Amino acid sequence: MKVLVTREIPEEGLQLLRQRCQQLDVNTSDHNLTPEQLRQRCVGKDGVLCMLSDRIDAELMDAAPTVRCFANYAVGIDNIDIDAATRRGIVVTNTPGVLTDATAELAWALLFAAARRVVEGDRMVREGRFKGWEPMLLRGWPVRGTTLGIIGAGRIGTAMALGSAGFGMKVLYCSRHENRVLEEKLSARRVGLERLLTDSDYISLHVPLTKQTYHMIGPKELELPKPTAILINTSRGAVIDEAALVQALRDKRIAAAGLDVYEHEPRLTEGLADCPNAVLLPHLGSATYPARRAMAVMAAENLLAALTGRRPRNCVNPEALERSKI
Ligand code: DGY
Repeated sequence: MKVLVTREIPEEGLQLLRQRCQQLDVNTSDHNLTPEQLRQRCVGKDGVLCMLSDRIDAELMDAAPTVRCFANYAVGIDNIDIDAATRRGIVVTNTPGVLTDATAELAWALLFAAARRVVEGDRMVREGRFKGWEPMLLRGWPVRGTTLGIIGAGRIGTAMALGSAGFGMKVLYCSRHENRVLEEKLSARRVGLERLLTDSDYISLHVPLTKQTYHMIGPKELELPKPTAILINTSRGAVIDEAALVQALRDKRIAAAGLDVYEHEPRLTEGLADCPNAVLLPHLGSATYPARRAMAVMAAENLLAALTGRRPRNCVNPEALERSKI
């Protein structure tokens, strides 16, 4: 088996691949492959362990027709044209479950950082602008007893919501399906998007990026929250119309935002970096040591299963299994 790993991942995953592959091509450089480099290095490979930053489209699949599986090192799969892969019998896998808590915890980190102005405070101290305690200095917003609105109550949304119990929060959620766990454990209420945006103090996004969720938070939606509301996004940047968000933050139509992901990642929409009421992280949702280790093992196991004629545990396009020889 000839396999490409498009960025260095934790050793546990590489070790599994090394034991089974005749040729293991790992991009050990400290940058992502350009589309052209990716295309060249996919040629002649049987499988690719790819990153969420790699665009895996029909053109790439046609340029590297020997590739039978793309194992994404992420739970999100919006970087891969799944229909194109399925039509070609190419198996696509992802890494669900192992990064749930890591991502939910980061959403909480953003929530608290935005609510209590942690980054503004840190900057003030480092820059020598802290002149001593002041009664009006960097006042923020409380968490206890407020309302948390969860958009997308899947694994990560549920984990984030469960964390609210310690702060006595009321939980609203907006989801295609009823979430029994949230309703039974937190007395959470399932509401429509408009209601959630209007009534929540903290709004946290946990939906995958699809045609339906693209720009689901745009200018119209950003008119609805309270002026004290805080928006958190650890899902995918393009779920929010970022230009509209910059405007809302500038006009103080919402109090603040905590973002881990960006519409044109890694580029920021003009003006976002100048908003002091935005806390900005470099897509760290799954970035804990254990989560990244588990993702490496899971992605490697998925890839090896697909390439050795077994059913991968986390196949996102099972129809491709029928079409391929697996
Ligand atoms: C994912 O796995 O989709 C996350 O965004 C990675 O941090």
